[in-house]
Amino acid sequence: MIGWTKGFTAEEGRVNKMGLEGERQLEQYLIEQFEWFHRYPELSYEEVETTAKIRELLTEAGIEILPYPLATGLVAVVRGTGKAPDGSRKTLALRCDIDALPIVEEAEIPYVSESRGKMHACGHDLHITAGIGAALLLKERSEELCGTIKFIFQPGEEDARGAMKILETDVMDDVERIWGFHADPTNEVGVIGIREGYVTAAVDRFGIRVKGIGCHGAHPDDGIDPIPVAAAIIQGLHTIVGRNVNAFHPALLSVTKVQAGTTWNVIPGEAELEGTVRTMDREDRVLYERRVRETVEGIAAAYGAEAEITWIDSAPATYNDGKMAQLCGKVAQSQGMRTVPEEMSLGGDDFSYYMEEETMGRQIPGCYLKVGTGVGHPIHHPAFCVQKRVILPAAELLAKVLEEDLKQ
Ligand code: NI
Repeated sequence: MIGWTKGFTAEEGRVNKMGLEGERQLEQYLIEQFEWFHRYPELSYEEVETTAKIRELLTEAGIEILPYPLATGLVAVVRGTGKAPDGSRKTLALRCDIDALPIVEEAEIPYVSESRGKMHACGHDLHITAGIGAALLLKERSEELCGTIKFIFQPGEEDARGAMKILETDVMDDVERIWGFHADPTNEVGVIGIREGYVTAAVDRFGIRVKGIGCHGAHPDDGIDPIPVAAAIIQGLHTIVGRNVNAFHPALLSVTKVQAGTTWNVIPGEAELEGTVRTMDREDRVLYERRVRETVEGIAAAYGAEAEITWIDSAPATYNDGKMAQLCGKVAQSQGMRTVPEEMSLGGDDFSYYMEEETMGRQIPGCYLKVGTGVGHPIHHPAFCVQKRVILPAAELLAKVLEEDLKQ
């Protein structure tokens, strides 16, 4: 992991723009920034101080910030002056998400969140710091860098649509490939999870309002009870994955909210359900929406009730490009890291919007890797904690992956 970042090697006597000499100083610097970001977490679209701090640190290092009118988040750019072996000069991007979660932190660390009820429980403080570290390293090596790297510090990932704020700008117009990464507390520091193909799921959300006719609890024959209708709908929805989706395709549906009634002797007029559908395959996503609608409407009609469905589609599935995944694996191993197959997740990440044809008008190859942060509490847990010794190796890995990818 150590050695390639000659801009930071004290023995060579080089000092970068920030006055940092050598890797230990860079590591110390990044850890200090990480602790600051962890101490002052901000929720989705409220990342004002976070953005100001990122801007300050990058500007201090002489790194250019693109003048986009973003309320929060920013895009920085490092322009290399080298040329790839084939003479080309590409532009690549690295996405780092920056928002925190509404969680009361329980981790016992000296740099615990000072904003009670807000916490970097998804490791986005690591994403920010490793992204800054990679930018500093590549800035130092810009003479050898065969193209341009855009560093996207993205707001609102936890809202699953923050990427769309960035995509309102023209930042991706000249980007050929995009990289993303996530903290992974299921692996030790030094372990990188990587996989070709699908890694995170498409995230859809639904709401169902069952409309019956309310009446006395003793006279259900006077009305249409929405509660057994809702119960039948829940049963029906759960058969879609087993009866309609190819058994080799990862997919699921969860009903996560059921609400009806106010008391024991009144049959309510309405019942409300909410839930989520997760799919990897594009066709399964379409199939699911169709079958949910048919199932809900059919069951409601069978009971003489009506049902209203709202369908909200969020991030599509993330598909890792094969060549990029292989390159990442090679670079990680050359950095002394161990690679393991990345766990597929039916969780989502709006990173996928950057690659999607529907949002971009063209398909942009991308790769989303998992950086082991030390085995511990899962992400979104109040005691989730990133081991700080991962910060420098993560920054070095990202910088090296980007540098090598420019040569491809
Ligand atoms: Ni996250």
